[in-house]
Amino acid sequence: MSPRLIVLDDAAAIARHVAAMFAGLLTDRPNAVLGLATGGTPVPIYQALIARHRAGEISFRDAASFNLDEYVGLPRTHPASFAYFMATTLFDHVDITPSRTHIPDGMATDAEAESARYEAAIAKAGGIDLQLLGIGANGHVGFNEPGSAFASRTRKVTLTASTRAANRRFFAGGEVPEQALTMGIGTILEARALVLVATGAGKAEAIARMLQAPPSPDCPASALQLHPDATVVCDREAARLLDGPA
Ligand code: F6R
Repeated sequence: MSPRLIVLDDAAAIARHVAAMFAGLLTDRPNAVLGLATGGTPVPIYQALIARHRAGEISFRDAASFNLDEYVGLPRTHPASFAYFMATTLFDHVDITPSRTHIPDGMATDAEAESARYEAAIAKAGGIDLQLLGIGANGHVGFNEPGSAFASRTRKVTLTASTRAANRRFFAGGEVPEQALTMGIGTILEARALVLVATGAGKAEAIARMLQAPPSPDCPASALQLHPDATVVCDREAARLLDGPA
């Protein structure tokens, strides 16, 4: 089962498309469980969702959310933490109930217990309806770096040097943490639907590998080939190494 591929002109078109997927879900199921991602790529999507909320088209009041990952050792108040990112980029601007938003606790002293707690919270919520994913230039999804088993669950991981370098732009000169808590590939594959977004030539190699090479932990995103309802939405630059008409 191959992921559905949708190639659009630019980030704004991608934002409209993916925001419409989330809006459709919230309309059909106001108490939907949303899987969310951080990073640069989803920002226009969150802006589009905020605009729809302000226009009275969607409400997050009865929804729940689970984020993919968080850095180890960053408090929620740290401007580069994913908790801070989600608050300032989406949650503070919509009517989501803060107690129904979930992000792994990067300050937990017992990472194993925190990971188990996170998995249990996802299960208790009934599982994730639609999980948003970005992709690293090295093919990571969440913070599942190359080599992550497809059966992996939420756990503490060590970030690669290339991932830390790519994310340095969010740290205003500070050091990027070496470790993170992330949903596993197995956790992500249990979401009922997946949508992965990518923009720019820097993602072209990862997109080609995830869609056209046999599924392998060498490219964690290639696990999406094993999911029955996965969609990849990217711009022409990110799609440029794919064989066939784009
Ligand atoms: C974010 C995450 C990462 C990013 C990926 C791409 O929660 O889990 O996998 O999606 O690193 O990041 P950007 O969008 O900044 O290129």
